[in-house]
Amino acid sequence: MKTPPLIPAPLKTTPREGAFRRAEAIVSGAGPYSGIARLFAAQCGLPTGGSGTSEFLDTDAALPPEGCRLEIRPGRIVARAADRAGAWRASQILRQFLLDGDRIPALDIEDAPRFRWRGLMLDCCRHFMDVDFVKATIDRIALHGMNRLHWHLTEDQGWRLEIPKYPRLAEIGGWRTDEDGQRHGGIYTRGQVRDVVAYAAERQVVVVPEIEMPGHCRAALAAYPHLSCRGEALPVETRWGIFEDIYCAGDDAVFTFLQDVLDEVLDLFPSPWIHIGGDEAPRTRWRDCPRCRARMRDLGLAGEDALQSWFLNRIGKWLHARGRVMIGWDEILDGGPPRGAIIQSWRGFEGAEAAARNGREAIVSPTSHAYFDYGPDRIDLRRVYDFEPVPDSLTPAEAKLILGGEANMWTERAPQSIVDAMIWPRLLAMAERLWAPADRRDWPEFRARAAAAAPRLRRLGIAYGKDSP
Ligand code: ACM
Ligand code: ZN
Repeated sequence: MKTPPLIPAPLKTTPREGAFRRAEAIVSGAGPYSGIARLFAAQCGLPTGGSGTSEFLDTDAALPPEGCRLEIRPGRIVARAADRAGAWRASQILRQFLLDGDRIPALDIEDAPRFRWRGLMLDCCRHFMDVDFVKATIDRIALHGMNRLHWHLTEDQGWRLEIPKYPRLAEIGGWRTDEDGQRHGGIYTRGQVRDVVAYAAERQVVVVPEIEMPGHCRAALAAYPHLSCRGEALPVETRWGIFEDIYCAGDDAVFTFLQDVLDEVLDLFPSPWIHIGGDEAPRTRWRDCPRCRARMRDLGLAGEDALQSWFLNRIGKWLHARGRVMIGWDEILDGGPPRGAIIQSWRGFEGAEAAARNGREAIVSPTSHAYFDYGPDRIDLRRVYDFEPVPDSLTPAEAKLILGGEANMWTERAPQSIVDAMIWPRLLAMAERLWAPADRRDWPEFRARAAAAAPRLRRLGIAYGKDSP
């Protein structure tokens, strides 16, 4: 029998006789994973039964983390998992079948992911995305075995997170006037954020917020100009690029502000990980700023790289004291990254290599394979499918430090209306790569499965784009 058209492909499938029919389904709402069972039933429009119905999702502590075992038989389906993520995966395998039709072939399935970190980054700053779209995207990635939504919330061109102590972040930082005279912006209220986080958690997705520092912060500086080296009143940026005005590293008011913001972030996001950006921060202003120069002198720092390292170490320690782990783009390696920080490698694989060689964990999302803001002319489905997150040069012990990867959806050139077409169907290949074993690479077989998944994406309302130019 050929592989069922599931994406990602389960580790092992064994065909059995016959099929299960939708009409036979009554989902037991009891048992250890009853919340997941009820959500699955609602997603698939299946009736739920009480304690009289047989257990549908049950525990098996011997199964691997996030793994599951499924027995699909005529008239009966039993799934087992050691944890909620595994129970979720079992339910979403069934959901994929039921999106395709009313019949599920009888099968035994054993499944578990290769990587722990299977993410999508959404830049909701360059272009705002409404809450319903963010939630729909979370549901769709969760259907495909992905478990992290990296939410890029602050930028030069827009600040997207309501912080009651600093109302100008929303009033001023949340909006810009584009060159065509159009106002563009939006802000997520605390209520909306809690809603998104809870919606994701039900689907076993952790929402990892990103608050950019010390660069990419022109929207915050537009709201509170005293946080920059020059204190100049500048508008929320409307051009794309890298901008020289960043947070002043010599002013303690900046740390008070950032810690206040992070206090709110920690309250809203239960994520064990907090992303602090750290990329593309020019040192120009710091070089000329008397307060930054005094800071370097007082601390005996060799230069601006060391100042950025000191800046992020200060924030990293603050997060660590509150039980959270810092993530930063690979520039945080310059001048020595904070202890315990996770490196997100984007300028190729070198950041991940350097991180792992130094005993640090890494998330791999290189421009060569994982930048979905680039069109399929640069990164086609095949290229994403060929992505290998673990660099060859690493020893097996170092390779364990590669947590997984992410697809990055930057939105300079992508309003919400075209985001679906940029991320799908390429996310199918990313989902497969981050789930399936390294040696399971069969492009024609995957391409056939991806083609079979197209009606499923349509049924979900995904306006998917092209997989090649
Ligand atoms: C990045 O693309 N600047 C992380
Ligand atoms: Zn300064």
